Amino acid sequence: MGHPGVLPRRVIEDLEDVAGPHRVVTDPELLVGSLVDWTGRWEGSSPVMLRPRLTSEVAGHLGVLSHHGVPVQFQGGNTGMVGGSVPMGGEVLVSLRDVAGIEEVDERSGQMVVAAGTTLAEVQQTALQSGWRYPVDLGARDTATIGGTVATNAGGVHVLRDGMTRAQVLGLEAVLADGRIMESLRGLDKDNTGYHLPSLFTGSEGTLGAITRVRLRLLPPHDEEAVAMLGFAGLDAAIEAVGQLRRHFDVQAIEIMLEDVLELVVDHLGVSLPLSRAWPVVLLVEAAGTAGVVDRLASVVHDGSDPDEVVVASDRAGRQRLWAHRDAHSVAISTLGVPTKLDVTVPQGRVAAFIGEVREAVVADGASQAWIFGHAGDGNLHVNLTGPEPAGLADHILHLVVDAGGSVSAEHGIGRDKVDWLGACRGPGELQVFRMVKDALDPAGRLNPGVLFG
Ligand code: FAD
Ligand code: MLT
Ligand code: ZN
Repeated sequence: MGHPGVLPRRVIEDLEDVAGPHRVVTDPELLVGSLVDWTGRWEGSSPVMLRPRLTSEVAGHLGVLSHHGVPVQFQGGNTGMVGGSVPMGGEVLVSLRDVAGIEEVDERSGQMVVAAGTTLAEVQQTALQSGWRYPVDLGARDTATIGGTVATNAGGVHVLRDGMTRAQVLGLEAVLADGRIMESLRGLDKDNTGYHLPSLFTGSEGTLGAITRVRLRLLPPHDEEAVAMLGFAGLDAAIEAVGQLRRHFDVQAIEIMLEDVLELVVDHLGVSLPLSRAWPVVLLVEAAGTAGVVDRLASVVHDGSDPDEVVVASDRAGRQRLWAHRDAHSVAISTLGVPTKLDVTVPQGRVAAFIGEVREAVVADGASQAWIFGHAGDGNLHVNLTGPEPAGLADHILHLVVDAGGSVSAEHGIGRDKVDWLGACRGPGELQVFRMVKDALDPAGRLNPGVLFG
């Protein structure tokens, strides 16, 4: 862990004047948990963590840090996976966790205004209690914050039908590098009055300002939901089934799990797989919608995809039991050590070939393992590498992705981890505009240094 550096007493006092000393944490014991990212790969340092509660306090803190020219690192739930959430150069850590709470639920138009530190799970529950549904879902739902999911444009398991976080963001409020507040929270269905600034801040990974409030779109709730676990003897049949299943509107998630990782998962969970045997490939298919979806799913999986074995659950406990196998993938792999995490999109037609090429690369490498799983419905595969020296293997795999016309970051963002690969997916013109926007909003380059731009 690098030297946390020391902040001059004057700066500490100015920060304490904003919202009181209890919002200015300098005790290293209290800081340490926020200096390492979820994967354990990124370990940073910081002299101070600020925990503002209100937008005005975020503005006050950022104004002081701007005045003194102090670099800043924003943090939400610290579940990010690309090294973008911890202070890697002694920056002052600004945690948005306490900027939390559901501000407004507009049940008529299906919208919700929430503070950035509110967890994804809380937003999902509040939406359901209000007779609506917030569609974004991912394994870190209990800890990931709405601000973090907006800053990273998080994907998750429902992108196939409901889109990325960007599709849910109707408006947002942000605090700029110098403490000015930008409010763009109107939620009109049609409002063509200039640039859509919420879109600019969505996916900005903390490089343009602190997101403090978000207006989210909500979707109608489901009458019925069902989850099917499909076992396949071969990869080609499973990928063929993904294509068939994508044609059915009721299907909102198609996840792929492979035998080797599922073995880690059932070990980790201490459960047995709900199928009669460990199939080489397992798809988890979630269908949801109007009444009758359970029957439709059963017929779809039989006619359309012809698996070797099917288990269907429609009750909540049964669905959760099937999902638990997918949700536990990241943590089960992490029991093997700190993985190198690749989060790639591959064109649908290349998925089976890509998995084969990754397996060949692993054999050629001879030392590391590749644990493959992910959101097969939208071509987003997660390839977690473990072993002595996976860097070369990681580069080889990312070259395979670029050669296949895919993306080196499907949903986790660039962070500090993928900065060297940004140019492989974005043209010089795009990168120039990225730089111009960053220079306009953060001319001193103090916000999340190293994230997105290296
Ligand atoms: P952090 O990790 O705290 O921060 C992430 C980035 O956003 C950092 O650059 C940070 O500076 C910035 N940031 C955070 N809050 C703000 C704010 N209010 N204003 C400005 N910048 C901010 N991600 C997916 O997309 N899909 C998945 O399926 C998925 N599954 C996961 C499963 C597990 C078990 C885990 C641990 C993580 C998973 N993730 C997934 C990754 C992670 O949950 C997402 O990236 C999430 O959006 C991070 O939210 P956070 O609040 O934890 O943000
Ligand atoms: C997931 O979908 O579980 C995560 O995005 C992938 C990961 O943890 O590598
Ligand atoms: Zn994912």
